[in-house]
Amino acid sequence: MSVTKMAINGKELELPVIVGTEDETGIDISQLRKRSGVVTLDTGYGNTGSCQSAITFINGEKGILRYRGYPIEQIATTTRFPEVCYLLIYGELPTQEQYTEFREGLTHHTLIHEDMKKFFEGYAITAHPMAILSSMVAALSSYYEAAEDDEAMNLNIVRLLAKAKTIAAFSYKKSVGQPFVYPQNHLSYTQNFLHMMFSVPAEPYEVPPVLDEALNLLLILHADHEQNCSTSTVRMVGSSETNLFASISAGINALWGPLHGGANQKVIEMLQHIIDDGGDYKKYVDMAKDKDSPFRLMGFGHRVYKNYDPRAKILKESADQVLGQLGVDDPLLEIAKHLEEIALEDDYFVSRKLYPNVDFYSGILYRAMGIPTNMFTVMFALGRLPGWIAHWREMRLDPAGRIHRPRQIYTGPKMRDVVALAER
Ligand code: CMC
Repeated sequence: MSVTKMAINGKELELPVIVGTEDETGIDISQLRKRSGVVTLDTGYGNTGSCQSAITFINGEKGILRYRGYPIEQIATTTRFPEVCYLLIYGELPTQEQYTEFREGLTHHTLIHEDMKKFFEGYAITAHPMAILSSMVAALSSYYEAAEDDEAMNLNIVRLLAKAKTIAAFSYKKSVGQPFVYPQNHLSYTQNFLHMMFSVPAEPYEVPPVLDEALNLLLILHADHEQNCSTSTVRMVGSSETNLFASISAGINALWGPLHGGANQKVIEMLQHIIDDGGDYKKYVDMAKDKDSPFRLMGFGHRVYKNYDPRAKILKESADQVLGQLGVDDPLLEIAKHLEEIALEDDYFVSRKLYPNVDFYSGILYRAMGIPTNMFTVMFALGRLPGWIAHWREMRLDPAGRIHRPRQIYTGPKMRDVVALAER
C-alpha cells in the first residue's frame, strides 16, 4: 500500500493511499483526527469517498457507466431487468438455472398481504404515490422479520423486489379510484407491473411489446448509480443495522426531491409550462442562465457527469423509436430537443459541462406508456431498488463496516449560561 505525506500545523503525517480497480485514488483519512486533531470538511461530499464498493463504476469525465464491470450500453441491449437485479445484488449475471429460480421468486412473492391493502384506505386520494410507496415499504417490516442469516436476507430481498411494484401499481389505482388489480403469475416482471397499472376488471390490458421493452430499458438504466443521495442514504440508515425495508424506505424518500429522482416529474412540468407559455424555449434557457432567477433547466447537469450522461443518450434514441412505433407525436419531445440543442451550444452550459441527464428524456417515455406524471419518480424508485439493495447488502456483509457518523465544524454560540424565565 502506498502512502502520501501531508503537513498539518507543522506536523508531517503519512496517510495511506487506496487505489481502486480503475485506478481511482483516495487518501485514507480515517485516522486523521486521531493523529492530528483535525477533520476534513466537504459540504455536499463532492470530494469524499464514503466507502469502497465493487458494484458500479462511473467515470463522469468520459461518460462511462458500468454495472459490475459491464458497460451500460451492453447491459441495456442484452438483458432483462431481473437479470440486472441479480447482477447488481450478487455480483455476477445469473446462470440459466439461477435466473429461473430468481424470476420464480419475484413472481411468487408479488402479492402483498391482504391486511396491507387496508392501509390504502387511509391515504388521501390526492396522496403523492412516493409518500405511499415509502410508507408501505417501511410497513413491510411489520410483516417480515429482519433477516438474521443469508437465506432470510435473500428472501426479504426477493419479497421487496416483488412487492414494491404491486404497491406502486396499487398507489396509482388508489389515485384514480379504480379497484386494485392482482398480479398474474404467467407475466414477466415488467408485464405484470403494466398489467396491474392498466387492467380493469372489465378489460384486461394486453401489454404492447414495445412498451414492455421500453419499461425494461428504463428500469435497467435506473438500476444503480453508485453513491448518489438516495443510495448514500440507504447505506447511512442501514449502517445502524436498520432492517432492509426501513433502510430502502429512507432511500425512496431521499429520491423524491426535485434535485434527485423528483427531477423527472419536474422536467415534464417544465416542458409543459414552456408550451403553455407560447413555446419560447430560448426564454427559459436565458432564465436558467440568469443568476438572479432561481429557475434551473430541470434534467440538466449532474454532480458526477461532466460529459453526456450515457443513460440520457440511450433514452433519447429510445424515445424517438418508441414514439415512432406508437405513432405518438409528443410536442414535449420537440421542445426537449430544441432545449438540448441550444443549451449544448451555449457557453454557459458548455463551460460548466452541463449536459442532459437521465431525467431529461425518461418522462417522455413514461408519458408514452400512459404513466401519469406524479408516478414518474415511483418508476425511478422501482428501477433503483436493486441498486439500493445491492449497496445495503454489500455494506451489511462488509466485516470492516461501521455505523456512519460524520463529524462537523461547529459554528454556533460559544458556551453561555441559561437565564431562567421569571415565570414558567
Ligand atoms: N440549470 C442551470 N444552471 C445549472 C444547472 C441547471 N440545471 N445545474 C447546474 N447549474 C449551474 C449552477 O448554477 C452552477 O453555476 P455557477 O458555477 O455559476 O454557480 C454550476 O452549474 C454547478 O452547479 P452545482 O449546483 O454546483 O452542481 P451540483 O453538482 O451541486 O448539482 C444537480 C447537481 C444535478 C443538483 C444540478 O445540476 C441541478 O440542480 N440540476 C437540475 C435538477 C436535475 O436535473 N436533477 C437530476 C439529476 S440526475 C438524476 C439523479 O441521479 O438524481
